[in-house]
Amino acid sequence: MTTSLWRQHILPFTLLLGLLAAATLAGDYLLHRLNLVWVGRYLGIPGTILIIGSLVYSLRKRRVITAGNPKTLLTLHEIGTWLGSLMVLIHAGIHFNAILPWLATLAMGVNVISGMVGKMLLKRSRQHVQGQREHFQLRGVSRGEVEQAVFWDAVTLDAMTQWRKVHIPIFIVFAVLSLGHIISIFLFWGWI
Ligand code: HEM
Repeated sequence: MTTSLWRQHILPFTLLLGLLAAATLAGDYLLHRLNLVWVGRYLGIPGTILIIGSLVYSLRKRRVITAGNPKTLLTLHEIGTWLGSLMVLIHAGIHFNAILPWLATLAMGVNVISGMVGKMLLKRSRQHVQGQREHFQLRGVSRGEVEQAVFWDAVTLDAMTQWRKVHIPIFIVFAVLSLGHIISIFLFWGWI
């Protein structure tokens, strides 16, 4: 049980987060090594576009749009926000001049981590409750008694699904801070 928890859930989570950190460091190192630091300045743009693009999943989920397979869109949302965040992290680099974009980066980090934790913990808990139900059913326990036995676990699971309510406010903070940063840069560049 402990091995499976570690191997199936904690290890992939750690690897995926570790990979984000390692790829950020490697990307930043390469850009500096190849004298392409200016590329990092513009990486904020494709990164932002990728993150906005991944929001198609939210539109589909809320039925604002009806086309597209929700499962595929969820996978694209997970890959897109991860890759977009990587680009934004390389873009942020190790320059420390302004507070606003760093607050945006912090909110983005919380957003990415909450998304990953939610995905992995929820899956694990669902499996746990399902496994318990099957275990009781196999032992011939009646349906009502099974529901009673898994009641508190089911309530906990229900509470965990509320995690989405945290993921979204954090996203809004992230979006507002990023917008402030982007508008100020565009004003500075004379693009608007
Ligand atoms: C359209 C998208 C974006 C554009 C055009 C953009 C542009 C820029 C520019 C020109 C700089 C200054 C770079 C330098 O001084 O070398 C910068 C810095 C930075 N950006 Fe962005 N950015 C974008 C999106 C984002 C997003 C979404 C985030 C975070 C969530 C972000 C976080 C940062 C950070 C942390 C810095 C470093 C600030 C510092 O020097 O203290 N950027 N960005």
